Amino acid sequence: MNAADSKIAGKVWIDGAVVDAALARVPVFDRGFLYGDSVYEVLRTFDGHPFALEEHLDRLEGSAARIEMSVPSRDEIRAAIDATCLAVGHPDLYIRIVVTRGAGEIGLDPALADAPRLILIVRPASLPSKEIYESGVKVAVVGRSRSIPGGPANTDPQVKSGNYLGSVLAVAEARRRGAYEAILGDAVGRITEGSSSNIFLVRGGRITTPPLSSGLLEGITRRTVIHLARKNSIAVDEQPLWPADLARADEAFLTSSVRGIVPIVRVDGIQIAGGRPGEVTRRVMSLYQQFASAR
Ligand SMILES: Cc1ncc(COP(=O)(O)O)c(C=O)c1O
Repeated sequence: MNAADSKIAGKVWIDGAVVDAALARVPVFDRGFLYGDSVYEVLRTFDGHPFALEEHLDRLEGSAARIEMSVPSRDEIRAAIDATCLAVGHPDLYIRIVVTRGAGEIGLDPALADAPRLILIVRPASLPSKEIYESGVKVAVVGRSRSIPGGPANTDPQVKSGNYLGSVLAVAEARRRGAYEAILGDAVGRITEGSSSNIFLVRGGRITTPPLSSGLLEGITRRTVIHLARKNSIAVDEQPLWPADLARADEAFLTSSVRGIVPIVRVDGIQIAGGRPGEVTRRVMSLYQQFASAR
């Protein structure tokens, strides 16, 4: 165990058992390690209960089907989640579900894989600070897509696979520019989503977000926000958006399962929403909070 390992809190489910996170190891012949040949989901618990678990399992199965991979049954995954969460014993947990195609002789042929390997990483959730929600964040439009180099035509954006190199490089660029999140684009420069989040703008009291046809992951938080907004008489449009739309927006925010809703107050050098989380954003944050804690 090295120095970094000893700081890793939490538990991991691997090969049918719960182990300390710091001691968990994946064999080097696992195709998730060799090729990013895996699918995954990230969710959190609210008051001890995995939030939107069935939606995450739907998407996990959808991602796997698109790359012709099988995943363990829902009962198996649910039982593993229960056992691992119990072992961590904390009400607010981060849960990462990973299924790799398995291990095998080196070679790209999927038939070389033995059997899907389920791995769960469950840790006390490290949520963004209060400051992030109260003051908002800066984003950088990085002009990269999640799939490299050819854009969404190369890699299906609906697959949440273990290969996140596009997002990794986008985040590196965002950090160099002092931004919290990178906003990705499509082949012609329209904005699509964050490196690990979806994006929404508010203009004239209406919410707009890029459509799935722009090439983005259908976030579970995105879907929930659209539903909650419409239910509460806030109009939502799904239409293509350009970086200039973001820079000119009245308000903007990001969504993801772990972070929930994060207000955007700056896009590169441009301040938006007067540099404070806007009214519609704050309303959506409160609707989401109520919805999440009621489930
Ligand atoms: C590329 C990408 N887009 C959007 C999201 C947000 O999805 P969700 O709300 O389901 O967490 C994620 C989450 O990790 C993501 O990786």
